[in-house]
Amino acid sequence: MSSDSSKVQLGKRLFFDQRLSRNGRWSCADCHRPEQGYALNRPRSPGGVAGGGFRNVPSLMNTVHQQQWGREGRHRQLPAMVAEMFESPFTLALDPLLLEQRMAQDPDYVRMFSEAGYPQISAANAYAAVAEYLRILTSRNAPLDTGTLSAAARRGKALFEGRAGCLHCHSGALLSDGQAHSLGLLARPGHLSELADREALLAYALAHDLEEVATLQQDPGHFTVTGRRDDWGAFITPSLRELNHSGPYMHDGRFYSISQVVEFYYFGGGPDSRKSPLLRPLDLTLEELNDLIAFLESLSGQPLTSERYLWSQGYPAAYPTTRYWSSHPAGEKQ
Ligand code: HEC
Ligand code: HEC
Repeated sequence: MSSDSSKVQLGKRLFFDQRLSRNGRWSCADCHRPEQGYALNRPRSPGGVAGGGFRNVPSLMNTVHQQQWGREGRHRQLPAMVAEMFESPFTLALDPLLLEQRMAQDPDYVRMFSEAGYPQISAANAYAAVAEYLRILTSRNAPLDTGTLSAAARRGKALFEGRAGCLHCHSGALLSDGQAHSLGLLARPGHLSELADREALLAYALAHDLEEVATLQQDPGHFTVTGRRDDWGAFITPSLRELNHSGPYMHDGRFYSISQVVEFYYFGGGPDSRKSPLLRPLDLTLEELNDLIAFLESLSGQPLTSERYLWSQGYPAAYPTTRYWSSHPAGEKQ
């Protein structure tokens, strides 16, 4: 086995391993589900160990081809996003030291790190290996790529690129320009009525030093990255690949179906005044809207649920563990 595929194997084992969360109950795959386009079919994230979430879980399909990560674009390196997912209380909540301890006491990880050519078992190498696994999560056989668009989808493609104006922002192989835009979405009443969800937003505000911590009602989006008021509520244009598997849609998962999204664009987007000037009500007939939907439905390929993508060998139930399974080795943590 080449060391590249050994890295993918290692990354895959890490991705599905619930033992690598603080309470031993969460893995990456619990929120990024293979059969759901490596996203999660519910509006907001369940919030991992801490519980609570204010954003929809994005698909990891083709994520390796993005230029920035996080819905507002806060990370410029994929391993940094992976690191956050391991460490954040709202995902796996696992300190890098504990991650290292837990990997080092599983003989299979010891072997796999060495096979993959990593000089040591470290959190940084684990993040890199998971990023290697994410590299193989790319679209397979979408009608757009295989040249098998139906007549309706072909008409929809012409509208998408022409009168509907979608191509302004959804361009290139990912159907994303990688830029932040506001669609004018306002927070919906009751959106964060769950205390745990509000707490997740509060934690985010604190972590990003936002002044409006106490009063924050809405996801600030790209404002967090630039500090520019105009970027309030703007998000990086998502890829439109694998939509058939990855709903619900938008940063807060407010739309359940592709047709709901198209209806939203038909009326020119949301009411917020910071909305991109590129959004206008669409002058399309019902038939044309259906063609547009047919095109959006042709951007998805086969779900990646075969042996190549899943870790199906399980994890050893019993092996000698060190003293440091759930606490830090004394003195090593500041
Ligand atoms: C409790 C649910 C949950 C778990 C567990 C989880 N994630 Fe995520 N993931 C999310 C959410 C929600 C986002 C969007 C976060 C944001 O924009 O703030 C996200 C975003 C990402 C992104 C960025 C995607 C993009 O398009 O910008 C990557 C990559 C990612 N997760 C990988 C992982 C990996 C690897 C793991 C395991 C180490 C993991 N996630 C565990 C919920 C989860
Ligand atoms: C001004 C730039 C812009 C234009 C024009 C635009 N979009 Fe988008 N689109 C975005 C952004 C930004 C998001 C994510 C917003 C969010 O998460 O709140 C998005 C989200 C979506 C989503 C949801 C994807 C997901 O996984 O959640 C779909 C579907 C979509 N757009 C289709 C279209 C179609 C069809 C058109 C043309 C009618 C179009 N877009 C025009 C910027 C744009």
